[in-house]
Amino acid sequence: ALVEKGEYRHFMEKEIHEQPDSVQHTLSEYLDLVTAKAKPAVVDFAAIERIQIIACGTAFYAGQIGKYAFEKYAGLPCDVEIASEFRYRDPALSQGTLAVAVSQSGETADTLAGLSWCKAQGLKTAAVVNVHTSSMAREAEILWPTHAGPEIGVASTKAFTAQVAALLSLAIAAGVARGKIDEAREAELVKALFEAPRLISEALRMDAPIRNLVQDLAKARDVLFLGRGPMYPLAMEGALKLKEISYIHAEGYAAGELKHGPIALIDEYTPTIALAPMDDLFEKTSSNLQEVAARGGPVIMIAPESAPDPHGAGIRRVHAPDAHPIAAPLVYAVPMQLVSYYTAVQKGTDVDQPRNLAKSVTVE
Ligand code: G6P
Repeated sequence: ALVEKGEYRHFMEKEIHEQPDSVQHTLSEYLDLVTAKAKPAVVDFAAIERIQIIACGTAFYAGQIGKYAFEKYAGLPCDVEIASEFRYRDPALSQGTLAVAVSQSGETADTLAGLSWCKAQGLKTAAVVNVHTSSMAREAEILWPTHAGPEIGVASTKAFTAQVAALLSLAIAAGVARGKIDEAREAELVKALFEAPRLISEALRMDAPIRNLVQDLAKARDVLFLGRGPMYPLAMEGALKLKEISYIHAEGYAAGELKHGPIALIDEYTPTIALAPMDDLFEKTSSNLQEVAARGGPVIMIAPESAPDPHGAGIRRVHAPDAHPIAAPLVYAVPMQLVSYYTAVQKGTDVDQPRNLAKSVTVE
């Protein structure tokens, strides 16, 4: 069927706005809101020793958010690697490893090759894919679908949050299977994830304040994204998005690494965007932002209204909805996407067809 933009100016804008539905739909594949339970997984997570995620681009960052969740909620060791490295370096994997390819298209050459390599080693394989008839869907033993629907914009948005939704849901299922999560905690986490679609709708209303900010961002040559915990991979995804569609150089860094290099870049022309939900790490991120502000760097702090103000001049705040820590990556993905979208619109670049990039890289 022909996919059209309808009332939207770009497919990317439309796809950003579809996320309440695509996340809801994907969560419902893995979780049951009525019983507040994870649906039984096709794989016996109790019998698995380790997960190895393989992916490229945006899917790699979704995989890193998945890693944090598998380890935190399920005590299940998880590694994530860029497929183009993984496939050529003879990785040492134990037989108890479940290999998981994460891919929107299910056709990325390197990811598919990594998956096939794992299969040839006799490992159990799964594919988290958005195209359910793709090569990876057929190659993997287990198909873990995302339900983002067709994604047209080259820069991935709704496919990313669908991947994150699937991986977070699977982490809950793994936690239950491995006895790391009791019934009360399971219910809490499942309900928290099902709050995400509503919170994403709320986060979409951040477009007005974000449009004001991008006047300055569009003039920047370099932008730094900071976060801790799952906000760290999200910061890297934010930087990737900005590079892809606005051609502004950006880096995503773990806020705690600031002192080990990137702080040298800070000056009045280098904006820092911080993803700072209210969690155990908020105070630490907040003090990193004070360090940036003290060196004259403009700071945009994306945090809930209830979060305390960091001391220091030059910190602009954009209010995001309050979210349970498990749902925060889904919710904070939205302002991160809106920042790059509106910056690109401001610069007048080709948002849906950025130069030199392809939707799916099926050759090396
Ligand atoms: C290309 C696309 C990205 C995507 C990556 C991986 O670089 O432009 O948006 O994240 O490929 O694609 P996949 O289909 O495997 O998720």
